[in-house]
Amino acid sequence: MTAPAKSDIQAFWKALYNSLYEDVDAHLTRDALFKSLDDLEDMFRLRRHMAVVEMPLAELAGKRVLEVGPGAGGHSALFAKHGAIMTSLDITPARARATEAKFRLMGEAAADCHAVNGDSENLPFADASFDIVYSNGVLHHTLDTERAIAEVFRVLKPGGRAVIMLYCKSSWHYWINMFLPIGLLMGKAFRDPNWLGKATEWGGKDRQTVANPITRCYTGAEIGRLFAAFKDVTWRKGEFYWYLVPKLGRLYRKYQIKRYGTHPGGVLVYGEPWPIQSPLELKLGEIMGFSWFIAARKPKNTPLPPP
Ligand SMILES: C[S@@+](CC[C@H](N)C(=O)[O-])C[C@H]1O[C@@H](n2cnc3c(N)ncnc32)[C@H](O)[C@@H]1O
Repeated sequence: MTAPAKSDIQAFWKALYNSLYEDVDAHLTRDALFKSLDDLEDMFRLRRHMAVVEMPLAELAGKRVLEVGPGAGGHSALFAKHGAIMTSLDITPARARATEAKFRLMGEAAADCHAVNGDSENLPFADASFDIVYSNGVLHHTLDTERAIAEVFRVLKPGGRAVIMLYCKSSWHYWINMFLPIGLLMGKAFRDPNWLGKATEWGGKDRQTVANPITRCYTGAEIGRLFAAFKDVTWRKGEFYWYLVPKLGRLYRKYQIKRYGTHPGGVLVYGEPWPIQSPLELKLGEIMGFSWFIAARKPKNTPLPPP
């Protein structure tokens, strides 16, 4: 397979932005944004998401934080609200603009925060620039994930923290929802090198017209290798949803919404309220969830670049 072009990656994420978020963003006011950020934090606490577990929210004030791939900017705005000096970089111009617009809506609270258009594989920042680099569900969609992680390492200050979510191969979603029906039974894993990209991500409100050019999943051992240059590396699983089971999942989703309700915290990150998981799903997430929540530290004794 010829490698997808960066423009294919941008086209897919722009189409998904337009389908999921454009409308929400067009009507967002300052008050609604701050209310949505409270909701988002509450939802993340319910889900034990790394945005509130591995990210030290109480210590963010004054910290220089880079988010790689902020999407529509919900996570970045949340960290800005906690006082982080945010720099947010996304390969898709519409997404960088949406993040910048949220910072500007926040006024003084995000006066020092900015979003730029750029590529995770060539971060336009000097070595040792950031206290924390955060990235949720992005680096497995870039052409060269190893290079992107090396860039995270480079721009972190010695002792700085990386908080990163990558997709988990040792998961129910990979093997049962995707590999078995699509990869094996439909034979796509043997014919189409990008079968996983095509099987993941859309979730837009409209019919999909642009394919996702790339998705990768990792085993725990692979995560260990990817972060070998870091110290104090931890990774745990999260995120399990019955509604992702092909066909039957749709029925479950209806039951789930009736039984557990929806959470308004989903609006900024999914474009709509989020169906609340059952306690069983939360537990199963720890065992066979589709997300690796990774935290790692750049060693303190990493030499600084020459002045
Ligand atoms: C699944 S979305 C995640 C958005 C956001 N982090 C969130 O959790 O809501 C993936 C994002 O990564 C961005 N992206 C993909 N490849 C990238 C790259 N090479 N450099 C920077 N951003 C990239 C896309 O434009 C998109 O905004």
